[in-house]
Amino acid sequence: MIDLNSYGIGMRFDEETMELTGFKGKRDVRKLEDMRGMFMEPDEGIKDLYYMFRGVDSFDSIRYDVTALLPGMVGEEYIKTKGHYHPDAYPEVYEVMKGKAFYLLQRSDDFESVDDVILVEAEERDIVVIPPHYGHVTVNRGDGVLIMSNLVSSRFSSVYEPYERKKGAAYYITVDGVVRNGNYGSLPHVRRAKPREARDLGVVRNRPLYTSIKNERDAFGYLEESEEYDFSGVFEFE
Ligand SMILES: [Fe+2]
Repeated sequence: MIDLNSYGIGMRFDEETMELTGFKGKRDVRKLEDMRGMFMEPDEGIKDLYYMFRGVDSFDSIRYDVTALLPGMVGEEYIKTKGHYHPDAYPEVYEVMKGKAFYLLQRSDDFESVDDVILVEAEERDIVVIPPHYGHVTVNRGDGVLIMSNLVSSRFSSVYEPYERKKGAAYYITVDGVVRNGNYGSLPHVRRAKPREARDLGVVRNRPLYTSIKNERDAFGYLEESEEYDFSGVFEFE
């Protein structure tokens, strides 16, 4: 059992059953067969890739979700989420609760051409803001389960089609490093980054997301209306 109490949610994650204890909703499973076109080399060996617990709690129209990614590989690639863009300019914010993650972000205005790619390396307790107009994939780069939470508006549906059409994100994260996805046209180089504290966006070092939104709901208004906010300081680039 992985105790998540230190993240403020008073729940535990059972690694045997991959269930979040006390979760009232329906667990969604993303299986390899749901993501067959998204990897460089589909592998027959692995069945389940990750588990989504959507709506663990909600704060008006801001949803608090938990996601658990299994460790392991699909071919040469680390297990990852399917990847999507958000419509309009909705941002999102993630927190690593257990394990090690990469957040691979790619900016696009038209869901076709990509003009910025950022690979964010995150450790336990790191909080990563996904700025407006960045599509994102999460990669489990550790050797154990990766558990993360996120806060996101429930007013939109994610856009998966561009990632499906291009067979994944702009780059693949493999054992041999970062590999360009040939289904994209010209691409910028990957900018590597680490997350930074961003108090004006509710991101406070060593304070769990759930604690922050419970105490300061207004600090997350940017998840609904992002225009007035400055996202330029959320990463420290290498
Ligand atoms: Fe998202």
